[in-house]
Amino acid sequence: MIRELELGDIKELLAVQRLTYDGQTPWTRSGFLSELYSRYTHLYLGVVHEEKVIGFMGVRLFLEDGHITNIAIIPKFQGWGLGAFLLQEAEIFAKSHRCQTMSLEVRKSNSDAQRLYRRLGYVSRRVLPNYYNENNEDAIDMVKYLC
Ligand SMILES: CC(C)(COP(=O)(O)OP(=O)(O)OC[C@H]1O[C@@H](n2cnc3c(N)ncnc32)[C@H](O)[C@@H]1OP(=O)(O)O)[C@@H](O)C(=O)NCCC(=O)NCCS
Repeated sequence: MIRELELGDIKELLAVQRLTYDGQTPWTRSGFLSELYSRYTHLYLGVVHEEKVIGFMGVRLFLEDGHITNIAIIPKFQGWGLGAFLLQEAEIFAKSHRCQTMSLEVRKSNSDAQRLYRRLGYVSRRVLPNYYNENNEDAIDMVKYLC
């Protein structure tokens, strides 16, 4: 089941991150709180299986861009098409608000995710040097043109 996320889901979202990122939580509770309460138009969706959140995705709209802020599927369910489905839902949402582009940042080393984004029509726009604080890794800024 796919449904919109609520504040009461944050504990489970932290658990999804721990499973996905080797015990790390790139977004803290306050990070999720500020996104779910963001004044920008946004959509946060969760994938629920047997009453547990097993993945989520967020998109925030700014001007005519739909920015994917976060996406994670727990390892057991990766490769099942859930990530692609959530990204397509984000695109439908952005298009319904007259966005012209979708965008996201991805680690330079995350070639699996980049492959998925390319398959869905995203292209690299530029490299953002030392974007990730904890190891100074570069990010690739990717964009998809919607029209
Ligand atoms: C990236 C991610 C969200 C994709 O979700 P997903 O449900 O696994 O993706 P899908 O099943 O829709 O698509 C599978 C595609 O994703 C890619 N992929 C990424 N991680 C994968 C994994 N662990 N296993 C299989 N495919 C993976 C592959 O390129 C695959 O494409 P292919 O079918 O052409 O081989 C998910 O793998 C994930 O949470 N990864 C760890 C966290 C992460 O990297 N988040 C993105 C940060 S920008």
